[in-house]
Amino acid sequence: MSVSLVCVPAAAMDGGGRSDYRRPDSPPAPGGQPPSAAQIELGRTLFFDPRLSRDATMSCATCHAPELRWSDGRVRPIGSEQVVHARRTPTVVNSAWLSALMWDGRAASLEAQAALPITSPHEMGQAMPALVERLSGIAGYRRLFGQAYGDEVVSERRVAEALASFQRTLVSPVAPFDRWVAGEDDAIDAQARAGFRVFTGKARCVACHKGWRFTDDSFHDIGLDSTDPGRGAHVPAEVVIMQHAFKTPSLRDLAVEGPYMHDGSMHSLEEVIRHYEKGGRQRPSLSPEMKSFELDPHERAALIAFLRTLDGGFVRVDPPVLPE
Ligand code: HEC
Ligand code: HEC
Repeated sequence: MSVSLVCVPAAAMDGGGRSDYRRPDSPPAPGGQPPSAAQIELGRTLFFDPRLSRDATMSCATCHAPELRWSDGRVRPIGSEQVVHARRTPTVVNSAWLSALMWDGRAASLEAQAALPITSPHEMGQAMPALVERLSGIAGYRRLFGQAYGDEVVSERRVAEALASFQRTLVSPVAPFDRWVAGEDDAIDAQARAGFRVFTGKARCVACHKGWRFTDDSFHDIGLDSTDPGRGAHVPAEVVIMQHAFKTPSLRDLAVEGPYMHDGSMHSLEEVIRHYEKGGRQRPSLSPEMKSFELDPHERAALIAFLRTLDGGFVRVDPPVLPE
């Protein structure tokens, strides 16, 4: 008898087996070229600098704050000049792996994404040429661009590239679940292991939250009350399944009390799980993977205990000294 025949049923019960969840050793680098330390340092400086916004009050870190899980702890962010935004701020941790960025996937790379918050009136409200001019007028920035790129020219492309390079260094710390995946059997307790079985079995969360980041990098309508078209605004109207569809978020390092979802409408994991149990609002776009089910209080608690084992703690980065 071959060993693999014996292993198959057990692996299936575990949602494909532990090895499907093994974390990669390092983030992908576009073009296979890891950025230099000077490019990352330039990106870190830009990320924390409020002078990127038109009225110089708001940096990327205002909304993606390290101490708030690289988000803002708010249901909806406040933009510069007090304009309110329509969607909750996602984390930028593990963004190196994203193939589609933003809740609706409208940006294809970190480089392409970077200009959006700078220029969006909802966010920093700054025109890129004006930003390039402002940064060029700061001697300390000319020096940083020189160290990163060999000459002191400030350009839109370099700003975007440096921001992207810095964000690619933000990776989830090793969590108890990772140690368990690596073979440390008691890294997570029996309740969390039972929760993993609920996640991959009865509750079928794994249909969409797959792999080490717990996302399929795809878009689904999970039947929230929000009327935001999400991905639907970027595809032909006949693609019914993409109406109200949003990107599956990672389940790593979740803020303990949310807010969760693109509209920040949920504030506890219990509330999230009960939503999935009910199956979500019925409409033509609702994902076929949304099927109602019922958990008992033990299963619900186990599922939450499992989700907590995906938390590796805070990704700490010291704010830089801003150049003059
Ligand atoms: C006013 C708050 C705010 C500011 C300032 C801000 N962001 Fe965001 N960020 C958001 C929101 C909200 C979204 C989601 C928008 C959407 O999906 O429509 C987002 C999305 C992102 C994403 C995509 C993450 C994902 O999971 O797809 C990245 C990357 C990002 N921001 C980086 C930045 C960078 C870099 C800056 C500074 C240049 C910045 N943000 C400034 C609020 C903000
Ligand atoms: C049909 C695919 C699908 C299934 C099945 C599914 N999810 Fe989700 N999940 C998503 C999508 C898509 C979102 C974002 C929805 C939105 O904001 O509109 C999400 C959001 C979440 C969030 C919020 C995360 C955040 O950062 O806001 C949590 C927590 C979550 N899901 C846990 C679960 C659990 C637990 C299960 C199983 C009971 C599950 N999901 C089943 C696709 C799915």
